[in-house]
Amino acid sequence: MTTMKNIPLILMGCGGVGQQLLQHIVSCRSFHAKMGVHLRVVGICDSKSMVVSSDVLTRELNDNLISQVCRVKSNRSSLSTLTAFGECQVFMDSELRGKFLDIASLLSKVTGLAFVDCSASSETVGVLAQVVDLGCCIVLANKKPLTSTMEDYDKLVSHPRRIRHESTVGAGLPVIASLNRMILSGDPVHRIVGSLSGTLGYVMSEVEDGKPLSQVVKAAKSLGYTEPDPRDDLSGMDVARKALILARLLGRRINMGSIKIESLYPEEMGPNAMSVKDFLSTGLPLLDKDIGERVRKASLYGNVLRYVCMIEGSRVEVGIQELPKDSPLGRLRGSDNVLEIYSRCYGEQPLVIQGAGAGNDTTAAGVLADILDIQDLFP
Ligand SMILES: NC(=O)c1ccc[n+]([C@@H]2O[C@H](COP(=O)([O-])OP(=O)(O)OC[C@H]3O[C@@H](n4cnc5c(N)ncnc54)[C@H](OP(=O)(O)O)[C@@H]3O)[C@@H](O)[C@H]2O)c1
Ligand SMILES: *[C@@H]1O[C@H](CO)[C@@H](O)[C@H](O)[C@H]1NC(C)=O
Repeated sequence: MTTMKNIPLILMGCGGVGQQLLQHIVSCRSFHAKMGVHLRVVGICDSKSMVVSSDVLTRELNDNLISQVCRVKSNRSSLSTLTAFGECQVFMDSELRGKFLDIASLLSKVTGLAFVDCSASSETVGVLAQVVDLGCCIVLANKKPLTSTMEDYDKLVSHPRRIRHESTVGAGLPVIASLNRMILSGDPVHRIVGSLSGTLGYVMSEVEDGKPLSQVVKAAKSLGYTEPDPRDDLSGMDVARKALILARLLGRRINMGSIKIESLYPEEMGPNAMSVKDFLSTGLPLLDKDIGERVRKASLYGNVLRYVCMIEGSRVEVGIQELPKDSPLGRLRGSDNVLEIYSRCYGEQPLVIQGAGAGNDTTAAGVLADILDIQDLFP
């Protein structure tokens, strides 16, 4: 009998992406078995509790239980409603951190362990830094740990082979992997321009057609393209986090504070000043004229407006830029992400990466590929 490589893992965060990841893991079982790999899920946690297999060294949460977890979480219930099952234990709030570290120190010595962060929390960074120190691997879809302080960042990446975070930028698109390959081959990347928000990509290509910003944002919201409060997209903060991750990958030692961020709405229309409803009905329409004007001016020179992240030299900016209509970013329509990467090898003609940059499915696929990518670290 051939021996099966086992990758024990703990999933943090069981929302859209986490649930999809669990479903992918289960549906890929026989395919992974053919490759000689088995993903052994030993723990799953949400914001308040964690289910853990009754013996993390020998047992796992079986596929039946994993499906139960997905059902419970898609009904937005708490994992603690799973206590009825004998094969697992449930830990709550204050016990969580200690339990993570217990499991991490136990398994890291024997089989290794991967911590997979599919939460949207800024609070996981402490645990992640500690388990990396203990010898565990970490795989992230969550951007926040990597956009914390430089000190936290240094800890997380201190063992480059133990961290993967492809899905933090461009969801499943091979952005981080491509940049890492260029960096490792000594091909210096001197400029990245990217449309890294599906929502803002859609919005900018619609206003290019002459539609008023307010109508476009309302349409995007009803299509489900935006966060429940569209200002979470329009503020540019999410794009700025991705820009920071890319800039740090390229070796820039900077914090969020050094990034120039252009918000598409003024402070007096912010969440503290008006409700979502008021923003959509009375705030946004006040912005239509200015954007329309900028679109028209740009078009006089054969240019279009795109909401991009721009990394060049020491400059890291997020906001609206005028770009040639006849360029990969200028040709962008709809919600795809597009990156133009310029380096020595890709000097005149950039390396272009384009495709769906969001969605539970593609994001979870990126996370799964990351987990498989570290299999050589497991016995
Ligand atoms: N969806 C996409 O298209 C996409 C694309 C790229 C990257 N991402 C990133 O992927 C991550 C997950 O996205 P999502 O859409 O699945 O988010 P989501 O639906 O909001 O799910 C977040 C999950 O994290 C849990 N959580 C919150 N705080 C936690 C903590 N301290 N420890 C452990 N778990 C915690 C939540 O628990 P409760 O259930 O108890 O609230 C929830 O289960 C985010 O960081 C997002 O930015 C998403
Ligand atoms: C992602 O999953 C969540 C939770 O299951 C769901 O509410 C949401 O509609 C999904 N998003 C997409 C784009 O399918």
